[in-house]
Amino acid sequence: MTQPTTAPAFRVIDLIRKKRDGGALSPAEISYLVDAYTAGSIPDYQIAAWLMAIVLRGMTSAELAALTHAMLHSGEVLDLSFLPAKKVDKHSTGGVGDKTSLVLAPLIAAGGLYVPMISGRGLGHTGGTLDKLESIPGFRAGLSVPDFHRVLKACGAAMIGQTEKIAPADRKLYALRDATGTVESPNLICASIMSKKLAEGTDALVLDVKTGSGAFMKKENDAVHLAELMVETGERMGKQMVALITNMDQPLGRMVGNAMEVAECIEVLNGGGPEDLRELCLHLAAWMFYLGGASKTVADGKLRSEEIIASGKAFERFRQMVELQGGDITTIDDPSRLPSADHRVEVRSPSAGYVASIACEDVGTACVVLGGGREKKEDSVDPSVGIVVHKKIGDRVATGEPLCIIHCHSDAQAAHAKKLLEASYTISTAPPAHKPSLIHRVIYKGDR
Ligand code: URA
Repeated sequence: MTQPTTAPAFRVIDLIRKKRDGGALSPAEISYLVDAYTAGSIPDYQIAAWLMAIVLRGMTSAELAALTHAMLHSGEVLDLSFLPAKKVDKHSTGGVGDKTSLVLAPLIAAGGLYVPMISGRGLGHTGGTLDKLESIPGFRAGLSVPDFHRVLKACGAAMIGQTEKIAPADRKLYALRDATGTVESPNLICASIMSKKLAEGTDALVLDVKTGSGAFMKKENDAVHLAELMVETGERMGKQMVALITNMDQPLGRMVGNAMEVAECIEVLNGGGPEDLRELCLHLAAWMFYLGGASKTVADGKLRSEEIIASGKAFERFRQMVELQGGDITTIDDPSRLPSADHRVEVRSPSAGYVASIACEDVGTACVVLGGGREKKEDSVDPSVGIVVHKKIGDRVATGEPLCIIHCHSDAQAAHAKKLLEASYTISTAPPAHKPSLIHRVIYKGDR
């Protein structure tokens, strides 16, 4: 551990006790803890105790703002003021088949705004934007900051991973939280997500906060609470913010698996694709245009998005971005050239009736066990495997009809995924009373 050269500003144990006893730390105390921990002069066990005190006692909004600020400024904050239009981004809390970023970045760029998107890899049962993009042969998500600027300037959108220099405090704190049962705190999740998103220099941020059986926040109230914290934190930092609470009781679209999801996004960019995926992309895009000042109302933003897709400009922009980031554009022009697994295993319905529910997290886990996600951090991902979801909630199904089809390399490889998928569907004799609505709520304080 690094020894400080001057006397520390605070005694760490005093700060831990203060939080443990329900007190609120000052911004100076919080920034001391974050800076000294990032620099290596406070041991893991003391920060772990402080994090656990936060999990149990919560934080005031001033403490949350101070924590986010300290984590954001623990590293580089990108300065994109050289770009001649507003910068907007979207962040999703993660889901299954959740692939909207690949449609939104080029679509919004084609509408004249800039999208500096820093994305993550798959986490748990959820897929990650970077893993999807890297299924395009040659695609480089690890651009340097100057290259990120160059791609952004040339085509209006660039998609990269978190660099070593962005919010290093989050990297260290997240690893510690993962090992100490302190991930599940809305305050800590908010500071973690917002510190990374605010570092990318965006003016406005649209949050897609998922709720349901395939989301991290299974209960809508928890999703709303997290969304409100993130909106308030972003607004305090001068950003335009909105959060959409959206459904994750079933996979979004039909494809779950990295290259298969890229192909589905290309369908949407070409004016097709499954209805739910297309609709969610249009709603999120509408808000991005509205917050970025490129449309007078959210409804206008939606129309504008439809027009841009119909004109072919969104697809063209995606092609350009992929090419600038080193990807093989012949796979974009002809998605059958993307990595694919040629063995098929059907998951059939045991009875006739209607799909009543899907344990959506298990569909995500089925993709992970096929090799489409990581069991351990250091695992590599197979871009070619995945699941085509043929039946969704409310669909009618006959006995023996495929509910989903696994794309894999052999029957043996698919065995575990097949069991998970068989158990994930509930079939009932009557249709469900409601199909899940795509957007549950919008959290926004201004006019629309
Ligand atoms: N995603 C993050 O980036 N941070 C969290 O704490 C949880 C999800």
